[in-house]
Amino acid sequence: AKPIAVGLLGLGTVGSGVVKIIENHQDQLIHQVGCPVVVKKILVRDLYKERDVKVAPELLTTNAEEVINDPEIDVVIEVMGGVEQTKHYLLQALQQGKHVVTANKDLMALYGSELLAVATENGCDLFYEASVAGGIPILRSLVDGLASDRITKMMGIVNGTTNFILTKMCKYGSPYEEVLAEAQALGYAEADPTADVEGLDAARKMAILARLGFSMNIDLEDVQVKGITGITEEDLDYSKRLGYTMKLIGIAHRDGDKVEVSVQPTLLPDSHPLASVSDEYNAVYVYGEAVGETMFYGPGAGSLPTATAVVSDLVAVMKNMRLGVNGRSAVAPQYEKQLKAPAE
Ligand code: NDP
Ligand code: HSE
Repeated sequence: AKPIAVGLLGLGTVGSGVVKIIENHQDQLIHQVGCPVVVKKILVRDLYKERDVKVAPELLTTNAEEVINDPEIDVVIEVMGGVEQTKHYLLQALQQGKHVVTANKDLMALYGSELLAVATENGCDLFYEASVAGGIPILRSLVDGLASDRITKMMGIVNGTTNFILTKMCKYGSPYEEVLAEAQALGYAEADPTADVEGLDAARKMAILARLGFSMNIDLEDVQVKGITGITEEDLDYSKRLGYTMKLIGIAHRDGDKVEVSVQPTLLPDSHPLASVSDEYNAVYVYGEAVGETMFYGPGAGSLPTATAVVSDLVAVMKNMRLGVNGRSAVAPQYEKQLKAPAE
């Protein structure tokens, strides 16, 4: 069967993982969708940089048009980060009928509804599973797996970098700056780690979770945020001696027509299941009226775990292409504004 041609925007931590999975799991992809997947073009900033993955030099370009305007490219995978310019590229891609997969929570938290509307208008899929909790298929679980339930609360650890930092500081007494540098070297942190340590990355993810879980519009401004920069080694040492573990916890709570979303450092008793979620791992509790309590756990950041979510979205797009149902998928529905966020 004719191969599906994919264009990548970005070949960093996540993009390299995407290329590796497409290469190394080609048999699995063919088995899933009945045709091969080829990477046709990749946008980067620096053509000559040494990279984690080997690609033919002619695949690389610094000109986004060569990806977005290539009529042979069916799916654009956005793993470059950034907001305004990236939004412009993705709107262009969608308007040309290309399906989009993105790992970009900044973009989806700010412009998700606009982009999803343009995708629907153009009969395109726009999937973003990797934008929340890396390798954990949490968005798909909310939208598909728990579709029949009414979700009342979600709570968890949704930023790998801060969990890595707090784990190392707490367990080994490692200094903050040193552990942050390690998280950056391992590819967990954002290009500018301010968003991680100030809680903004977690806030964006909680906004996305709340939108999908509660089926309502949640703006980023609705999320109350406090990061981990004020936490000292002494705070952690003290809490440890008292039998508590410090975690950056996101909570989204719905009570009637009120919703509250927040991110803040929280002391958990050592016996609490979230207290043992270590390093870059994430975990999300979802409470549904019918199902009760469910917990999702897995790697929240890093190259291959995140790329697994991206390439699985690609598989979902390709399955829809085969069935001719793109733009109508239930995996990333448009949410409706049904309820009001609290005034405060
Ligand atoms: P990196 O910084 O490692 O990679 C970014 C890539 O995009 C690089 O290849 C870079 O090119 C390219 N790029 C960036 N800006 C431009 C531009 N203006 N023009 C052309 N190319 C550009 O980022 P990550 O892979 O870590 O993250 C990518 C996205 O995935 C982000 O949205 C991030 O939030 C998200 N994400 C990341 C996770 C992680 O664990 N790292 C997990 C979940 C989501 P060059 O290589 O030449 O510099
Ligand atoms: N910087 C993010 C984190 C990447 O540490 O969780 C995954 O979204």
